[in-house]
Amino acid sequence: MTVRAIEWDPATDRLRLLDQTKLPGESVHLDIKSVDALVDAIAILAVRGAPALGVAGAMGVVTALDEGAERGWSADEVLEAVDRIAAARPTAVNLAWGVDQVRGLIDQGRDAVLEAARRVAVEDEAANRELSRLGADWLLARVDRPRLRVLTHCNAGALATAGWGTALGLVRELASRDRLELVYADETRPLLQGARLTAYELAQEGIPHVVQVDGAAASTILRGLVDCAIVGSDRIAANGDVANKIGTVAVALACREAGVPFVVAAPWSTVDLATASGEDIEIEERSGVEVTSYAGVRVAPAGSEGFNPAFDVTPARMVSAIVTERGVVEPATGQRMIEEG
Ligand code: MRU
Repeated sequence: MTVRAIEWDPATDRLRLLDQTKLPGESVHLDIKSVDALVDAIAILAVRGAPALGVAGAMGVVTALDEGAERGWSADEVLEAVDRIAAARPTAVNLAWGVDQVRGLIDQGRDAVLEAARRVAVEDEAANRELSRLGADWLLARVDRPRLRVLTHCNAGALATAGWGTALGLVRELASRDRLELVYADETRPLLQGARLTAYELAQEGIPHVVQVDGAAASTILRGLVDCAIVGSDRIAANGDVANKIGTVAVALACREAGVPFVVAAPWSTVDLATASGEDIEIEERSGVEVTSYAGVRVAPAGSEGFNPAFDVTPARMVSAIVTERGVVEPATGQRMIEEG
């Protein structure tokens, strides 16, 4: 039983989020009563991770319909609110994709939209379980060790999805086959998704892990301490370029130098065939204060500004494998993402 980050709560008939800004210290839930509240929750990363954002986008359309009914919004005002949800963060394609999965059903009424939004969540979890199996098969056919030592960056677990997880789903799959030795979880500055969330999930499941600073990752890989890196993604371009949490490209560079597989695990909903290459992906830039402060306390001198791109793009030539529920693509060999997967 994995942790549930997002669900439609039958008791309140509202969207319910596990507030990830409070983890691992406190397990607090947010009942989302308005579009503003949802957009805020997305902006502060109370709900986060590309697939979970997809579900938030789809279920958020129901929130917009409910608020519209309460406040007497016109059809255009509802659509405007829906657009605000889709644009709350720019890099993860899943957010707008999730909205688009249900937007066309608005004319059929709230129940039809809610049913479709729930389906987005169910299908995401099923996709994660399938890609985890395929990814484990791919890795175990290539790495000759009884148990694998895996490095991961950011959090691509149950918390970042509708359930199970992508990169951490694959880790879970390896653990369930008794083929996992140790996970190196990058802490993932500045918001510590690795130290707070990945470590939380691994600890809950009793999976052996250590947390390392982001700056240790390349050295850990070059010292031969890991057999592969497995990460999630926020958007995969048609040519196999991969956007993911800032710091991911450094992991990929080190893997290439060390000759160990760099694997991206993501549902097909993260693949954006309309985006030709990584150059066309908008990279979210967040407040510099997240960098110049630590735990709310300023650490950089008053005159220093922060630079805070939230994501980077790993070029396809450094990506050994992209694993989706449709199969495995090997961009480093020149393979591209195509409709059939
Ligand atoms: O800023 P975040 O925490 O939303 O960034 C999340 C990531 O970069 C994840 O690796 C990605 O969304 C994949 S989650 C399965």
